[in-house]
Amino acid sequence: MEPIKVGLLGFGTVGCGTYTVLRRNQEEIKRRAGRGIEIARIAVRNPAKAAKALNDIGVTDAGSAIVTDNFNAVVDDPSIDIVAEMIGGTGVARELVLRAIANRKHVVTANKALLAVHGTEIFEAAHANGVMVAFEGAVAGGIPIIKALREGLTANRIEYIAGIINGTTNYILSEMRDRGVDFATALKGAQELGYAEADPTFDIEGVDAAHKATIMSAIAFGVPVQFDKAYVEGISRLAAIDIRYAEELGYRIKLLGITRRTGKGIELRVHPTLIPSKRLLANVEGPMNAVVVHGDAVGATLYYGKGAGAEPTASAVVADLVDVTRLHTADPEHRVPHLAFQRDRLSDTPILPIDEVTSGYYLRLRVADVTGVLADITRILANTGISIDALLQKESEQVDDHGKGETDIVLITHETVEKNVNTAIAEIEALRTVVSKVTKLRMETLN
Ligand code: HSE
Repeated sequence: MEPIKVGLLGFGTVGCGTYTVLRRNQEEIKRRAGRGIEIARIAVRNPAKAAKALNDIGVTDAGSAIVTDNFNAVVDDPSIDIVAEMIGGTGVARELVLRAIANRKHVVTANKALLAVHGTEIFEAAHANGVMVAFEGAVAGGIPIIKALREGLTANRIEYIAGIINGTTNYILSEMRDRGVDFATALKGAQELGYAEADPTFDIEGVDAAHKATIMSAIAFGVPVQFDKAYVEGISRLAAIDIRYAEELGYRIKLLGITRRTGKGIELRVHPTLIPSKRLLANVEGPMNAVVVHGDAVGATLYYGKGAGAEPTASAVVADLVDVTRLHTADPEHRVPHLAFQRDRLSDTPILPIDEVTSGYYLRLRVADVTGVLADITRILANTGISIDALLQKESEQVDDHGKGETDIVLITHETVEKNVNTAIAEIEALRTVVSKVTKLRMETLN
C-alpha cells in the first residue's frame, strides 16, 4: 500500500524531532500502522533554516519531501492526507488547521493553546468534515496521558487529575528548594539550559499549564474546553521562604494543574500547591512532568515522563500519526471521540469560580511579637469556621532599638471554601499587630 502522506507545518524543535523519529523508526512504525508514513511536504517560513536543521540531523536533503514557504499550498495539496501543525500559537495556526479540515485532511497537533482556546470550533469543524484532530503531544509531551484518559481509563468515573505539567516551572521550583536560590536566579538557569522560552511568561505565569489542564478536564469530565474559566496563578511571586517553611512542615511546593469533579461543579485551576513530601508527585524533580489521575474503579494512577523536548514530543506526535493512519478509513462515527465522550453528550456542568473551590490553605503572617496576637488570629479563623491543622511560629527577630520584635507565623488549615479564607484574611490583615499582607497558598493532600 502507498504510504500515507503528511504535510508538516513548521520545522522547529518538534517538527524536526518528528521528522527524525519517523525516519529512524520507519520500519517499526510501518509494521504498526499497516502502511508507511511519509512526510511529503514541509512548510516553513525560512526554507534555508529548515535545510540547515535537516543537515544538522544528518539529512542532506528532505528525502522526497518538498520544502516550501507556502503554507497554504501544503494544506490545499490534494495528495496530503494528514496535516501536522507544528507552528504553535492561536493565530496563523488556527487559520491553517481550519483550512486543512475544510479540505478534509486529518490534523495532528501539539498545540495546547490552540485547542484550549479554540477547541470547540476546531472539533466541530472536524466533525462536519468527517476528519480527526489528534493532539497527544499537546499535554505533557511524551507522556501518553490523552490516550490513557480517553481510552485506558474509559471505564472510570474520573474523580480528579493533578499534574506537574510544566517542566520549566518544575525545574525552577526544584532549584529554589535544592539550592536555596530565589526565583529570578532559578529562572535565569532554566533559560540558560533552554527549558524556558526567551519570553517565559506563559510558563511562569501558569498559562501553559492551564492550557493543558483545560484539555485534560474536558476529556476527563466530558465538558467543552473552557480555558477562559480556568483559574491561573503562576510562580513568579513565590518567595523562597515559603518553600523553606513548607519543607519544615513536611510539604513541597509544586505548580499543579488540578481539575476535580465536585457536587457543585468542576474545579479547574493552576497554582503553586503544597503537597505532602512523601507523595510520589512531590518527588518529581527538574523539568520532568507527572500526572495523577484518580478514577473510581482504578483508584490513583500516575504517569511520569518528559513533558517537552524534540523527541519526547515527537513520540506523541508520531503516535497520533499512527493512530490516524490506522483509523483513516474507519467510519467517522466509529472513531474515538475527540473529547472521549460522544460530542452530542457533552455536559454543561459549570466550572467553579476560585472562590467556591475547597482546599487546605497555607497562610504566612508577619506579626508584631506582642501578647495576644496569636489569640486574635485563631479567634478570627474559628469565627469563620476554619480549623487549624498545623502551626509554626519562628523565634522573634528584634527590629528596633527598643527591643520590639516581629516574627512569622505559618498556619496550615483544614479544608475549607476559599471565600471563607479570604474573609478571614481580610480580618487578619486589619489587625494592628499584623504588619504585612498575608501570603496564601493552596494545599492538596492527594489522598
Ligand atoms: N514550555 C513547556 C514546559 C513545554 O516547560 O513544560 C511545552 O509545553
